[in-house]
Amino acid sequence: MSINIAVLGAQWGDEGKGKIVDMLTPHFAAVARYQGGHNAGHTVYVQGKKFVLHLIPSGILHPGVTCIIGNGVVVDPQALFKEIDELAAMGVAVDGRLVISEKAHVILPYHRELDVLSEARRGERKIGTTSRGIGPAYEDKIGRRGIRVCDLLGDPAALAEEVRENVSARNRIIRDSTLEWQPLLEQILAYGERMRPWVGDVSLLLARMMREGRRVMFEGAQATLLDIDHGTYPFVTSSNASAGGVCTGLGVPPRAIGGVLGVAKAYTTRVGEGPLPTELSGELADRLREGGQEYGASTGRPRRCGWFDAVVVRYSARINGLDALALTKLDVLDGLPDVRLCTGYRTSQGTITEFPADLRTLAAATPVYETLPGWSAPSKGATRLEQLPAEARRYIARLEEVSGVECAIISTGSDRAETIVTPGSVVAGWLGGPHVAAGRT
Ligand code: IMP
Repeated sequence: MSINIAVLGAQWGDEGKGKIVDMLTPHFAAVARYQGGHNAGHTVYVQGKKFVLHLIPSGILHPGVTCIIGNGVVVDPQALFKEIDELAAMGVAVDGRLVISEKAHVILPYHRELDVLSEARRGERKIGTTSRGIGPAYEDKIGRRGIRVCDLLGDPAALAEEVRENVSARNRIIRDSTLEWQPLLEQILAYGERMRPWVGDVSLLLARMMREGRRVMFEGAQATLLDIDHGTYPFVTSSNASAGGVCTGLGVPPRAIGGVLGVAKAYTTRVGEGPLPTELSGELADRLREGGQEYGASTGRPRRCGWFDAVVVRYSARINGLDALALTKLDVLDGLPDVRLCTGYRTSQGTITEFPADLRTLAAATPVYETLPGWSAPSKGATRLEQLPAEARRYIARLEEVSGVECAIISTGSDRAETIVTPGSVVAGWLGGPHVAAGRT
């Protein structure tokens, strides 16, 4: 059966989607990003080499796999070229395998400035963005004044008018700024020329591939709790990171999505501002941060760490229709005397088990925990369920019960080999399909 699947974050990002996408890629003909930009950072280890991908789907590390950047993504040409050059230096060629939607919006230098300025103006209420210009680029898109990839390749006179108008609007926002539009136009036209060979009609390409029975993986960036509609607004990113974004961000129909895999850490992390009900401090937080190397792949910022929050993951399961979870970084919990699962929140209105919309409720919520025994034997490196300590298996079983989703993949280390695919799980079924791209760089 030819099933296309979406792989997306079920928490606040950095769940280890890169590793999961990388290990599943040999079963797919294409990997397609549907939202976000180079605010994402997917770290993948291949034969001891570390690759950090921001914009290009991690499928690029597998020869023969087509990598697609959808219309829902915002593309910074400079960041794109840097990534392409870095991949080339490590022996990975993108030519003939990278397709960028002609409808994708472009991040320009003034978007980055506006991002930094907007954060500075918010002061204490800042979002903690990655300063990559993501929000302002999406603002221009929704405000119907954005510049798309196809504009860089079209009529230069029409582009000149757009650039002039956008630069003068921006100069009105940034006081004392005198950005000149002509040099920017020249720069943008040069970007367009370099991008030209990779630009195409992504929706058409995907429709053809799917008609031919070639399987596609839809790759999410950021995560459900950072989704502009369903996340912890306003402490979110500016795109639809949840499953709904697949259709709008690639031009594929809902029925094209045959399965949805949510990626969740065995604990919780968040980078940037906003409430995190299970957040820990002190020694335990440090232990998780060091054990899990919880530092942002894009910005290097230390991540905030806390216990697994089943309210969050159950909410993600509902929003995305998760068929299964890929549970990552289980090994980071190795050696703890006990482990905790958050099953509800105590609030002024009593105990709640559904994720609240109002951030004040969330910020004031006290987690309700279940405490389970930890495990002293390592889970690290396990490739079969039987190799896991009994207490780790009990933790997973209870986590599945309270989250309402099965763990079809369990990751026990950063290497691709350190993974368990649960026999008989929905993912085991998906992987029964044809292998389209064996081998790797
Ligand atoms: P922006 O996407 O740069 O506008 O940042 C908005 C929020 O999303 C901030 O809290 C960021 O820390 C967070 N964010 C953006 N990209 C990622 C990511 O890849 N992982 C985790 N958090 C992210």
